[in-house]
Amino acid sequence: MNGEKFEGWREDITRQALSAQSLTDLQSVRHHWLGRRGKITEAMKELAKLSLDDRRLVGKELNFLREHATDLLNRCEKNMALQEESRQLEAESYDMTLPGIWPGTGLLHPITRTRRLIEDVFLRMGFSLEYGPEIEDEWYNFEALNIPANHPARDMQDSFFIDLPGMVMRTHTSPVQIRAMQRYGGTLPVRILAPGRAFRRDDDATHVPMFFQVEALVIDRGISLADLKGTLSTMAHELLGDDVNTRFRPSYFPFTEPSMEMDVTCASCRGEGCRVCKGTGWVEILGSGMVHPQVLRNGGYDPETVSGFAFGMGIERVAMRIFGIDDLRLLYQNDMEFLSQFGSYTGRPGL
Ligand code: DAH
Repeated sequence: MNGEKFEGWREDITRQALSAQSLTDLQSVRHHWLGRRGKITEAMKELAKLSLDDRRLVGKELNFLREHATDLLNRCEKNMALQEESRQLEAESYDMTLPGIWPGTGLLHPITRTRRLIEDVFLRMGFSLEYGPEIEDEWYNFEALNIPANHPARDMQDSFFIDLPGMVMRTHTSPVQIRAMQRYGGTLPVRILAPGRAFRRDDDATHVPMFFQVEALVIDRGISLADLKGTLSTMAHELLGDDVNTRFRPSYFPFTEPSMEMDVTCASCRGEGCRVCKGTGWVEILGSGMVHPQVLRNGGYDPETVSGFAFGMGIERVAMRIFGIDDLRLLYQNDMEFLSQFGSYTGRPGL
């Protein structure tokens, strides 16, 4: 071993380190010189075989070489890492002037818009919103509403009964009437609107198993059928326009007496008679009536001193009417192309 040889090594190390093209190249240079079987490492192991003087001399040289290699490789690696990073950034650079990808703005579903429109009309008439559970006690859903055990709504064909005994998926929003009366605890006036889901084992062109209703209940002294008709006519004109006509037909519901249904002029034929209205020129939109005395009692009110009216309306029918949708099922297929036609960006309450 001599100084010349090490001078050659020094040049080799320097040249190899400086000509490396990548971090991997640098790693193999490091491995070649400083690795466990690297040239410098091996030479150091050989020191033991030398005489004391040589060992001191050569050892010093080797230490210099090792420092040089370590220092140079460290600096080259740092440099290379920076270079590789900027190369990568360059490759990933993008055109900031390109138009962005619009994530889309959420739109209100036509049923939600319709529900809000209805709420808006009634809030302006002094009603408050009231809510009840969707999994309902049979007593609230049936008994308290005077619905006898042999009523078809009680039949397995119509109701979804669940594993909890005495409970049912509410078949209408009418049980909220009873809950509201209990909550008001006999105070007057009661003037509530209860929107929400209802469930029935129906599934065809005009029925879906989950649908929306809105229930209303008014109780006070001296409430009459005139109040009911006035309220319903006002609602019809507010929701469907001034030119819509309404008609009231006698009907039957266990929880009202007398009972009536309200029809509005058919939107498709404007009253001429067509397929939609089965030639009658009218479309039924709700059931209503004067609250049955027993129902008032069940809610804790005295039918001798107060009276009330109630109605229940399907929200889907109203939505179809407002937005000119002719198939109920379209509302539930979640077809964005279809639904976005009825979207609202205004953010105005109810619209
Ligand atoms: N609950 C009835 C149904 O789902 C609708 C109804 C009729 C509600 C008359 C009422 C009412 O409040 O008075 O078919």
